[in-house]
Amino acid sequence: MSDLSPEIIQFVGRFHPLLVHLPIGFLVLLASFEILACWKRMQPLTVVRGSVLMLTVPTVILSSVCGWLLGRSGGYDPLLLEWHRWSGFGVAGACLLVLILHYLNWRAAYAVALACTLISLVWVSHFGGSLTHGPNYLTRYLPSIESRAVGSAPVGPGSVGGGGEASLFTTLVQPVLAAKCVACHGPVKAKCGLRVDTFDEILHSPKCGPILVPGNAAASELVTLLDYPLYQEGHMPPAGEPQMTADEIALLRWWVDAGAPDDKTAAEMKLPANLHHLLNSHAVPLPAAPEKQP
Ligand code: HEC
Repeated sequence: MSDLSPEIIQFVGRFHPLLVHLPIGFLVLLASFEILACWKRMQPLTVVRGSVLMLTVPTVILSSVCGWLLGRSGGYDPLLLEWHRWSGFGVAGACLLVLILHYLNWRAAYAVALACTLISLVWVSHFGGSLTHGPNYLTRYLPSIESRAVGSAPVGPGSVGGGGEASLFTTLVQPVLAAKCVACHGPVKAKCGLRVDTFDEILHSPKCGPILVPGNAAASELVTLLDYPLYQEGHMPPAGEPQMTADEIALLRWWVDAGAPDDKTAAEMKLPANLHHLLNSHAVPLPAAPEKQP
């Protein structure tokens, strides 16, 4: 595989998100037929089992190969990618097993294997969705008790109460950068020598020159590159990667214009009302401080 050029790998790999929906559709169709066939009148549906499986297996293998190539082109969260890759191969193997059990006519084993395949499929799809749309894509707008309690109050879960509150940088800015930038600008990969995973790293970007000018978002590449048209050179995150939402860009611009402090809370900074909802969606637990480790 090493003699394939990176362009070819990327070109073929990008068919993965398209192809992957074929086996998913076939599996859901098959499962629906199996359930309907519990009614005697619907029993004839089971004659298509073999045909549906004969479509599922080749498409699942093809999309796994494309997915593997796409994963090699880089830019993804390494841990999520690992989970998605191996659980994806697992589902491909499981589809093959379901096909074999069908032809052996081992009905009970077939039913169990099909059910397990569908359950695993939910997980694989979840990892895949998180890779492209960022973690907690699915649950971000889930109306939770917590988010209703916080409502539009200018404080987040990490910054409730009196002294010792978490700063707006840790509760909001850092999680946004972690979700959209750190895969390429973090401890694992630092494209252009640039890391944006901690406040100090943002201030000291060695190769590219300063990317943050506190108080001046228009002069900070940390903000301006996000506003470039998607396909213009230099746009961040690069086209094809999970993009910043308009509100996330607005947040960064507002934070930089407000002097880019790393110690002020959302309440102290008077986070604008239209950005309060970000407090609920980005309240992800951050790694513990190093001194707490044994
Ligand atoms: C998929 C990988 C990837 C992601 C995600 C990504 N970048 Fe980059 N970034 C790069 C690469 C590659 C370069 C260097 C080449 C270039 O300038 O296009 C770069 C360069 C930069 C530069 C320096 C530009 C210069 O030449 O001075 C800044 C600033 C930057 N990125 C900010 C960000 C921010 C902020 C995010 C998140 C919103 C982000 N990047 C997300 C890959 C990425």
